[in-house]
Amino acid sequence: MPSPKKRLRTKTFIGISSGSACVSSLKFFVMEISKNEKFPDDLEAAIRELKRERNAILLAHYYQESEIQDLADVVGDSLALARAAQQVDKDVIAFCGVHFMAETAKILNPDRTVVLPDLDAGCSLADGCPADEFRAFIARHPGAKVVSYINCSAEVKAMSDLICTSSNAVKMVEHFKDDPVIFAPDRHLARHVAKQANRPDLIVWEGACEVHELFSAKALAQMKVRHPDAEVLAHPECEQAVLDQADFIGSTTGIIQHAIKTSAKTLIIATEDGVFHSIRRKVPEKTLIQAPGQDESCSCNRCPYMRLNTPEKLYLALRDLKPEIRVPEATRVRALQPIELMLKLS
Ligand code: 13P
Ligand code: SF4
Repeated sequence: MPSPKKRLRTKTFIGISSGSACVSSLKFFVMEISKNEKFPDDLEAAIRELKRERNAILLAHYYQESEIQDLADVVGDSLALARAAQQVDKDVIAFCGVHFMAETAKILNPDRTVVLPDLDAGCSLADGCPADEFRAFIARHPGAKVVSYINCSAEVKAMSDLICTSSNAVKMVEHFKDDPVIFAPDRHLARHVAKQANRPDLIVWEGACEVHELFSAKALAQMKVRHPDAEVLAHPECEQAVLDQADFIGSTTGIIQHAIKTSAKTLIIATEDGVFHSIRRKVPEKTLIQAPGQDESCSCNRCPYMRLNTPEKLYLALRDLKPEIRVPEATRVRALQPIELMLKLS
């Protein structure tokens, strides 16, 4: 008999409510899997078996649900996953993250099959920076170097001089210390980098992450009063008023590592709560509190796009080798250069 957990996982209809929005703008993503679809009782064992059969590697971001993280060969932040993708020696990459991450893996692995369990797993930052508008933006700033956060499309990467992630953005901007620099597409990360790198002149594309932007600075201040010994750990995609209250600002890997090593026993965490899984595994005795959203119904600590991937969809992706990520070759070749430069400089 399968365990109750395993039986639960064999549902045929998967609905995910958006964690990014307050009730007023609630979105609802639903992917229906055919009612005729049959899933094995032990889905996790079947996924492991398919991984072997397909000669596949499973790369997962920290924002994936814990079952997926536990199945993954590599769990990491955007930089670690790009590095892992650069070193793959398997035929297939099953990427459990969002589209731009899987696309980056494909850019690095043109001859390998890259599948993303749900093709709708996008990102508000990538979607908020359309290639044609970004091309016009660059044209308005001749001579500027373009540093793009990895949360952007392959087309935007292809227009960039250097890619960065939240863990190396300051260093990447410092690489162009003698040039004007366009930084896209996250205005909050840009402001954080401008301060850290002493580059108030950064030319910024005004995009934002719809998840991190919804943490409430006011409610956080009230929470800190209730937990005076707690440390606040925040992702740089949060608004400045949230970052101003943080004891530590860093990428998802940075947040996890800091949570493990700090002597603080209570941590308020302003990022997606997928990171809690890794922290709990290492320091189960610590109290982890989700940073509050802008109203009580706001579950800002769930990325609705990341959470579109499920073990069921991962099983189908490995079984059918789709949905497959494809990148036009001319775009891929151009986008590869700034990604490889980042990996070399990091
Ligand atoms: P990391 O670079 O920390 O993995 O962040 C990716 C991301 O999408 C944060 O919202
Ligand atoms: Fe994009 Fe924000 Fe989701 Fe990260 S948390 S993938 S930046 S929408």
